[in-house]
This record gives sequence, structure tokens and C-alpha cells, in this order.
Amino acid sequence: VATRTPFIAGNWKMNLDHLQAIAFVQKLHWSLKDAKHGDDSVEVGLFPPFTDLRTVQTLLDADKIPFALGGQDLSTKDSGAYTGEISGAFLAKLACRYVIIGHSERREYHAESDEVVAEKVKAALRHGLVPVICVGETSEDLEKFGASAVPVGQLQVALDGVASSADIVVAYEPVWAIGSGQAATPEQAQDVCAKLRDVIADKLGADAAARTRVLYGGSVKAANIASFMREPDVDGALVGGASLVVDEFSAIVRFQK
Ligand code: G3P
Repeated sequence: VATRTPFIAGNWKMNLDHLQAIAFVQKLHWSLKDAKHGDDSVEVGLFPPFTDLRTVQTLLDADKIPFALGGQDLSTKDSGAYTGEISGAFLAKLACRYVIIGHSERREYHAESDEVVAEKVKAALRHGLVPVICVGETSEDLEKFGASAVPVGQLQVALDGVASSADIVVAYEPVWAIGSGQAATPEQAQDVCAKLRDVIADKLGADAAARTRVLYGGSVKAANIASFMREPDVDGALVGGASLVVDEFSAIVRFQK
């Protein structure tokens, strides 16, 4: 059985400017000083706005803070006349290891289709970044098709043409659970995460399915993280609101099954 290092990822969305980011990262580091992270017990990832990346990267580097860094999005293109876009090459240069792709807020407010998401996955891999591929159903989807059909379909398209050796992370984020305070139940999360792992097995093979981390996201907090982490196919969490509160995020990282 492959062991998958739990991954607790904080998606800051459009919060914390670069000065607030410095204070936040220092406090979080302090708060996690005696916790086991940065080794195999749990990996912590921070996904600040683009304008914070340089500052946060410098801080992590200077203080040898073992948090992984990632962008919240990237361009399908590598460079050129694309005003406002950010290349995966730039993220890689700033020591980003990860990039979130296909978050429901990008799909909804920026009309990102499954095909654009698939192109972005390839762009990330081209630059040596690990895509954190987000999938999930809206409440209307849930009513019409049940929980798994839409995320399964989204992941199938996102993995088109991806090599079986690719290093990826998948995040199941039911749209109705994001920022609503109403998380999925651990059983619901397990059910869909297991089906997403089956998609990885179909598209990339059994080895990839065994090593790839599948996260749950949507109203994760200190009080419910352990219940998700007890599920065999949930390997971590993509945390929004609770990742902006030092004590809360720190308690999530310190989850005990
Ligand atoms: O990407 C994480 C996010 O969408 C979940 O947000 O605030 O429900 O934890 P939140």
C-alpha cells in the first residue's frame, strides 16, 4: 500500500496583502514550531495571491520555514501578449511547487471550461509544477445527477493526455460546501474521493492512483478535519476561510485521526 503524506493546503483566495502575509506566515510558523510538519507526517501548503508570492517565498527561504508554496491559478500560455496573465514559468521561478487549477470560483466567475482546465494542467506540468486540480458539483448538479457525476466528468477531461508518471493532486470541493459553513459529511467526501481515485486509475494507471493525494475542500475547520482524515481516500484538505486564521489553521495542521 502506497503511503500518501497528508497535505493541508491553505487557499487564501483574494485575502492578505504582502504586508499582512508576512505577519501571518511568521505567526503560523511560530504556532507550528513544536508540531510535526515538514517531515512525512503532514505537508503544509500556502496559496497566497500572486502579489504576495515573492515576499512569502523570501520569508520561507530566510527562516527555513517548511511550508510549500503555490499559485492560485496560471495561464495556459508560457509567455507573450496576454495582459494580466501569469505564466507557470514565473511561478516555478518563485519556488512554487504547486498551482491550484480549476477552482470553482475560476470556473464560475471566469468561465473556465473543463477544456481550459485541461490546458492549464498541461501548462503546470510543462513547468514542473504540481497541479492541484479542483472539481466539484453545484447544489443543482447534486440534485440532478447526484454528487459524483460532475466531479468525475471534470476530472476525466482534466487528465486527458496527462502522462501516467505525472505528479498531481486532486481536490474534491463540492461548490455548495465552499464558504457555506455546511461541509460534506465524511462519508460523502469518502465516496466521491474514492470515485475520483478510480478516474486516476483509469486514466493514469494503478500506481498513479495509489500515490496521488485526493483532498477534500469545503468548510473544513479544526472541529471537522479529523473526521475527514479518518476516511481512507481523503488525503488532506484544501482550506479557504479557516486558512486565514492562524490558530484555526494551525489546529487543522495538527489534526489527530
Ligand atoms: O479552495 C478552498 C475553498 O474553496 C474552501 O473554502 O472557505 O469553505 O474552506 P472554505
